[in-house]
Amino acid sequence: MDQKIETLNQKRLQALAGGGQARVDSQHKKGKLTARERLHFLMDEGSFQEIGMLVSHRSTDFGMEKENYPGDGVVTGYGTINGRPVYVFSQDFTVFGGSLSETHAEKICKIMDLAMQNGAPVIGLNDSGGARIQEGVVSLGGYADIFYRNTRASGVIPQLSAIMGPCAGGAVYSPAITDFILMVENTSYMFVTGPNVVKTVTHEEVTSEELGGANTHATKSGVTHFACANEIDAIQHIKKLLSYMPQNCEETAPAIPYQPGNESRPDLNSLLPENVQQPYDMRDVIEQVADGGSFLEVQKDFAPNIVVGFARLAGRSIGVVANQPAYLAGVLDRHSSVKGARFVRFCDSFNIPLLVFEDVPGFLPGTDQEWNAIITNGAKLLYAFSEATVPRITVITRKAYGGAYDVMNSKHIGADMNYAWPSAEIAVMGAKGAAEIIFKREITAAADPEAKWKEMEQLYSDKFANPYRAAERGFVDEVIEPSETRSKLIHAFKMLENKVVNLPRKKHGNIPL
Ligand code: HXC
Repeated sequence: MDQKIETLNQKRLQALAGGGQARVDSQHKKGKLTARERLHFLMDEGSFQEIGMLVSHRSTDFGMEKENYPGDGVVTGYGTINGRPVYVFSQDFTVFGGSLSETHAEKICKIMDLAMQNGAPVIGLNDSGGARIQEGVVSLGGYADIFYRNTRASGVIPQLSAIMGPCAGGAVYSPAITDFILMVENTSYMFVTGPNVVKTVTHEEVTSEELGGANTHATKSGVTHFACANEIDAIQHIKKLLSYMPQNCEETAPAIPYQPGNESRPDLNSLLPENVQQPYDMRDVIEQVADGGSFLEVQKDFAPNIVVGFARLAGRSIGVVANQPAYLAGVLDRHSSVKGARFVRFCDSFNIPLLVFEDVPGFLPGTDQEWNAIITNGAKLLYAFSEATVPRITVITRKAYGGAYDVMNSKHIGADMNYAWPSAEIAVMGAKGAAEIIFKREITAAADPEAKWKEMEQLYSDKFANPYRAAERGFVDEVIEPSETRSKLIHAFKMLENKVVNLPRKKHGNIPL
């Protein structure tokens, strides 16, 4: 037995060595951790249980039979993060550049199947040169096996992808299907075709970083939800994100103990500027209303005219969607609509109640918006709210104009409670534009058209630039002092805790894509 154990230990040591010390050193020199080091920081101490440590590739082409590393470039297994079970795979760039072979894919599929069977999140730490070039179609098949599982798992268990090195070609589509992508600044990139192909096809000269680095995807494309300063920062973000989520779609997110206290937030009464055209930062409202320090903003540098993120209210996890008057006056455009819609759908999939703060002048006009399908994209947000069955509450802080009033979680599309501050203006459009249209004849005929316009603007404003018309109809359930917001929301979400909605029987809806 001693000798047999010695053989086992040798094999284990071989697997632990990855692609060898020189390649590990090269990985470190690039400012990157190894696959196992990442797992060490991610998982609770001593909790990680590896599966498939000795799996080896089956390729014999191009002399591959002579080069075999136990584990085949990916470390897979399960363990806990903050005491909660998760399944993980961590690609090892030191072995064939973390490239995906048939067996590498089988290992990932195995832990995805276990995660689905046992109802726990899957976390992928990606660092790979893509399809194992020596293997050809079996590697492509392996990718497709993963994509298929990503799709089947969508909405059943949370799926998180951290990009910690290259992620190129079709390989990007696995992270893209998962719920959240985290990228590391300067050491990770994602693109369908790299700078060389781009140069050949479009004659553009672009670096990997510009084309698909963390900052590009955090600001321009919105592909990544978080651009993290380094790998440890990315790992901390994964842990924090998970804390707001349930294990699967049958459960609710864990609540943290909460001691009721003084829930009044008097500072909110003076937060809005006197002039309704002046901006303010909606994040100040969110931070005052949510439990102290609990707000985690998602996609913060993409489409900043809408703010989305997780927070806690009285210890319970909620998803926040808010117009941001500090950027483009909080207008809805194609990017912000898609950003909002995707977040709403995640929260609804995983039983996370939704809180909406509304201050929106409407949809952004212009050819760029129309030609890039603001119609279809705006409809995504409308559809996402309309189909959501989680508890949903809206607080209108100021403007709720036009179609955007309907879209931003109005009562008409199924919101459970709708509050308005006394500063709310709920109308088809702003008073100035409205007066110009409906009093056009009076304004043109007046001796002083400018003065007449002002007078008519005031008239429209007195009638509609307030929350009371909507409150009289019951479209707003209550007009509240801003300072009361937190307390009202705590009570209302508690009241909605056992909400049940039965949807019409269907295969699935057809969200406008
Ligand atoms: C096999 C690979 C590999 C791959 C890298 N390696 N990519 N082996 N298949 N796809 C190996 C290298 O031979 C090298 O082995 C080691 O990994 C490290 O690679 P380097 O090139 O030395 O590293 P670096 O300079 O950091 O460059 C990393 C890289 C580059 C940018 C990722 O290796 C690269 O361009 N690789 C090819 C990328 C690619 O075209 N993949 C296919 C994409 S298409 P040694 O022995 O020297 O350490 C695709 C389709 C998916 O993935 C389809 C799904 C539908």
